[in-house]
Amino acid sequence: MAVVTPWEVSGEINYQRLVREFGTKEIGPALLEKISSFSKNKLHPMLRRNFFFSHRDLDLVLNDYQSGKGFFLYTGRGPSGKMHIGHLIPFIFTKWLQEQFDVNLYIQITDDEKFLVKRQANWNDVEAYSKDNILDILAIGFDPEKTFVFRDSEYIRHMYPLVLDTAKRTTFSTAKAVFGFKNETNIGWIFYPSVQVVPTFFEKKRCLIPCAIDQDNYWRIQRDIAEPMGFKKASAIHSKFLPPLTGPQGKMSASDADTAVWLTDDEKTVKKKINKYAFSGGQATVEEHRDKGGNPDVDVSFQWLKILFEDDDKKLQKIENDYRSGKLLTGELKSILIEKINSFLSVHAKKREKAEKKTEKFMYSGKLAEKMWAK
Ligand code: TYM
Repeated sequence: MAVVTPWEVSGEINYQRLVREFGTKEIGPALLEKISSFSKNKLHPMLRRNFFFSHRDLDLVLNDYQSGKGFFLYTGRGPSGKMHIGHLIPFIFTKWLQEQFDVNLYIQITDDEKFLVKRQANWNDVEAYSKDNILDILAIGFDPEKTFVFRDSEYIRHMYPLVLDTAKRTTFSTAKAVFGFKNETNIGWIFYPSVQVVPTFFEKKRCLIPCAIDQDNYWRIQRDIAEPMGFKKASAIHSKFLPPLTGPQGKMSASDADTAVWLTDDEKTVKKKINKYAFSGGQATVEEHRDKGGNPDVDVSFQWLKILFEDDDKKLQKIENDYRSGKLLTGELKSILIEKINSFLSVHAKKREKAEKKTEKFMYSGKLAEKMWAK
């Protein structure tokens, strides 16, 4: 049985079933057409290829944009360790949204959450990971005047009245039903969801949250209480999960080093990991593969190219055709991926180095940051 919560994702995920169970909607052609009609560039590959596949009230966000009411973006990261490439996905997509719609963006760094949820976490580690993760996030390249990055432990004073109001309106039985809390769950963790809900109230406009579907539980709580509190119900746009190297099921996880590629992995490590662990849809022998062809639908290297590393539809299609027909071997497919990941990581490393100097602006002195601290 598949499990999808903010803290655990495992098993074979049936995304259509999740949409039904969570009560979200699939992103269909009409909505894609509408996004396309407003955006400056061609639709992002993650939309074209149905990786961002589900939503809540995205149509209302677009209506608000069209009528001039506008909207804002909100996303976040829990600094539980170094970041892997899966963690970057919502940020890459959010950057595209900010570029298309030219809107404010709030990025929450939930140091409190990770301290509370991870049994072994100590505060010094969480602080160090927060600083480290912020560099990876800023390397993506958001608009410094329209983006505010904040750590909960630092910014909490400004959020606290709304956090309290949120907590007061959320009963333990609701929190238990939505998150599966148990008697053994520490009380800080039980309180925490009210902190993740509050950035949706940073502006009176509608809030659009890009994230993987594991974060949706929070927005269900938000949508129950937002209107009585005088705010709009949050909208969300959900992605699927980048699969772990070891197979097409579950999500790439930070807890198993072999299933993930870290943003700091060097070229040799990437090559070794992909060659050794990337689950293959190919046949057992070269002869058999040439004869029967491979299966790109389960091949993790192909899936990674499709989700993140090959933007060009024509090139991707050729790789898919050649793999299916047996012309392209698993080793060759892996080589294409290895090269793509390594060039992505080398560019990322350079941007990350430059991000160090930009932290101040995004967190404290940019136009939006200053406004938020002055509140
Ligand atoms: P965290 O740090 O677990 O994950 C950060 C973001 O990455 C998404 N994600 C993935 N996306 C694709 N493939 C994967 N394998 C994968 N693994 C993780 C997550 O959905 C998330 O969007 N509590 C949050 C931090 C947070 C937040 C938010 C996230 C605070 N406010 C608002 C989204 C929106 C957390 O621990 O995320």
